[in-house]
Amino acid sequence: MHPKLSSSFLPPIIFLSLVFLFVYSTFLPFYTNKPPSFPAKKFLPSSSSSCNLFDGNWVLDSTKPKPFYDDSCPFHRNAWNCLKNKRDNMGIINSWKWVPNDCRLERIDPWRFLGLMRNRNIGFVGDSLNENFLVSFLCVLRVADSGAKKWKKKGAWRGAYFPKYNVTVAYHRAVLLAKYKWKPKQSTVSDQDGLKGIYRVDVDSPADEWISITNFYDVLVFNTGHWWGYDKFPKETPLVFYQHGRPISPPLGLLDGLQVVLENMVRYIEKEVPKNSLKFWRLQSPRHFYGGEWNQNGSCLFDKPLEEDQRILILIPGQLDLWFDPSNNGVNKEARTLNHLIKEALQGTNIQLLDLTHLSEFRADAHPAIWLGKKDAVSIWGQDCMHWCLPGVPDTWVDILAQLILYSFKTG
Ligand SMILES: *[C@@H]1O[C@H](CO)[C@@H](O)[C@H](O)[C@H]1NC(C)=O
Ligand SMILES: *[C@@H]1O[C@H](CO)[C@@H](O)[C@H](O)[C@H]1NC(C)=O
Repeated sequence: MHPKLSSSFLPPIIFLSLVFLFVYSTFLPFYTNKPPSFPAKKFLPSSSSSCNLFDGNWVLDSTKPKPFYDDSCPFHRNAWNCLKNKRDNMGIINSWKWVPNDCRLERIDPWRFLGLMRNRNIGFVGDSLNENFLVSFLCVLRVADSGAKKWKKKGAWRGAYFPKYNVTVAYHRAVLLAKYKWKPKQSTVSDQDGLKGIYRVDVDSPADEWISITNFYDVLVFNTGHWWGYDKFPKETPLVFYQHGRPISPPLGLLDGLQVVLENMVRYIEKEVPKNSLKFWRLQSPRHFYGGEWNQNGSCLFDKPLEEDQRILILIPGQLDLWFDPSNNGVNKEARTLNHLIKEALQGTNIQLLDLTHLSEFRADAHPAIWLGKKDAVSIWGQDCMHWCLPGVPDTWVDILAQLILYSFKTG
């Protein structure tokens, strides 16, 4: 730039920057996932507290190595096996690389990772998004031990044992984390509002699927999220929350119920999981339904990631906030809404946050969408804009988790 030109531009730029800083700091709480009082240091391994793996950008990188696995991995779940189901763009989907702003994200080295995990076990507990995560993990680790065998003991829903390293990695399905069960309406009860029955949730009791496994695993990764919605539990078959064996009165709505469940589950984890086990809580990965809910022809036929909000000179809300900010009341607002409650419940605990939300928010292009492997699946279930293609974005989650686990074991 010509020197004269630049000096005449300088004052307006400084002014604009000040305006931007003011606007930015004023709106910061609304435009990031972190409430301002959130003590990030507590949840991250100490020396990586300045190194945040969750802030960054997706960069198209044609030199990125190919995924570790393909459609032949025996741990695949059919509906997420996008290569087998011939999803368009799989090459491009896997050429995007997550590049954190202030630190390096290494690709997992399955041999080294399993070597360091020898005689230890990793457990996932929660809903199908944790199962999605697990499948990616199993397929990646299998590269280092082709003798990996399916493993479903101790109430696990899905998992594998890696005999070369004596390592078990498994998923325990507990979609609400708390115990819940269906109670059909008693015939003696008079008809009210078409109620067919209730799902009783015992807020103070973990689900049977994981209540007794907390000593078996050295690393535990919890989640819950997309089941806390009225699409899963409409008013004819609602969740009703119980404590000490009795219905909570007055009855709690879904989000209040979630809050109480979170408090109780976190307390249980703090009390029952051995002190030297590593505990993570992965935040929601968002859904990407465009044009309607999953049952209203909502679609995610995108060929590239969404664009970030612009914060260069003035704040221009980009696609991410338009899609996900709860104040826009869109169909995909749930992740940020729930995350807020989860972060609150985890404050002051030694459960590390695995904040996969922001990086996943970009990736509207990476869901199975209409490529579900069954002819009628889309007409019955709609597109899948919630789970993720494998190989795909969950492989990046695996890289992040592996890096944090190795770091914690080395320093811990
Ligand atoms: C395998 O690991 C478990 C801990 O998960 C340990 O108790 C057991 O002794 C190990 N087995 C061998 C053969 O090292
Ligand atoms: C979804 O799309 C189908 C076919 O285009 C149409 O018949 C149906 O009415 C749509 N449903 C909704 C809820 O928009």
